[in-house]
Amino acid sequence: MNALRIEGLRVSFDHPLGVVRAVDDVSFALRPNERFGLVGESGSGKSTMALAIMRMIRPPGHIDGGDILLGDTNLSTLSGDAIRRTRLAGIAMVPQGSMNALNPVMRVGAQVADAMRDHGVQPRDIDQLMARVGLPAGTVEKYPHELSGGMKQRVCIAIAICLRPTVIIADEPTSALDVVVQRQVMRTLAVVQQDLNAAILLIGHDMGLMAQFVDRLGVMYAGRLVEIAPIAEIVRKPRHPYTEMLIASLPSMDHKDALRGIPGLAPLLRDLPSGCAFHPRCPKARDRCRAERPLPREIEGGVLAACHFA
Ligand SMILES: Nc1ncnc2c1ncn2[C@@H]1O[C@H](COP(=O)(O)OP(=O)(O)OP(=O)(O)O)[C@@H](O)[C@H]1O
Ligand SMILES: [Mg+2]
Repeated sequence: MNALRIEGLRVSFDHPLGVVRAVDDVSFALRPNERFGLVGESGSGKSTMALAIMRMIRPPGHIDGGDILLGDTNLSTLSGDAIRRTRLAGIAMVPQGSMNALNPVMRVGAQVADAMRDHGVQPRDIDQLMARVGLPAGTVEKYPHELSGGMKQRVCIAIAICLRPTVIIADEPTSALDVVVQRQVMRTLAVVQQDLNAAILLIGHDMGLMAQFVDRLGVMYAGRLVEIAPIAEIVRKPRHPYTEMLIASLPSMDHKDALRGIPGLAPLLRDLPSGCAFHPRCPKARDRCRAERPLPREIEGGVLAACHFA
């Protein structure tokens, strides 16, 4: 059984100028113990999807459809109380920017204890938990301002794993950190993930980091998942033109020519182009791409792409 399976998930925001479809019919699954990465440019709906999986979308946003299966529990039909009990215990999130959301006037140990208490668990072994995420003894007594960015992010990871969830969602957990600290925090995340036997959904921009960390990668464009493939496969042979351009835009030691960006702008989610949302920027676009929306289909074993010509 999958650790997490998302089926046809749709999320939108009501906006005076129209409906913003931030997550538009997305399906994928995480195997137990798997590290799955999700990339896509800013505004492509990654955080919205993470929040929807946690059932934490607030108005003016709403989930319009789809199933969110955590093991055999359908989170999309759980009541408010049941979903609160499942959060942290079954599925936990390190939200985007969470290290800046720690309470500045509360010792971090007490914040971890609070998270446990909030979920009906008597706080215990907090020192041990801190050690597991690589924090020195005595950190529990510190206030957030006494900690470095990397240490604060470790505290957020400690909160996420305190009830031993089977799925961890980490939304850009290291994007505010410098490169060396990024690697260290990622290594810690890998250790705790293995320790818990948890699956992890890692959201980010950094393809280099993804390549080192994840088993499979999903690529989002304008609220839609356009490609899913094992990481080595996607780097070797991207199938969707957007993924291809993403990978070609990475700086490389082999060809130190000018950096290549992706021409054109990301589309407005409340006014998406017809057919394939990427067609106005796609060098390979033909008439069919303007007329018909391509759905993700298996190109070969384990490789899915939403492109008519992949
Ligand atoms: N509270 C909100 N109200 C209205 N629109 C929202 C709200 N939150 C997100 N959106 C819209 O949903 C879309 C997706 O946003 P989201 O934050 O999920 O993107 P993202 O992929 O996480 O981007 P980033 O890489 O910058 O974190 C955006 O177009 C945004 O304008
Ligand atoms: Mg985001």
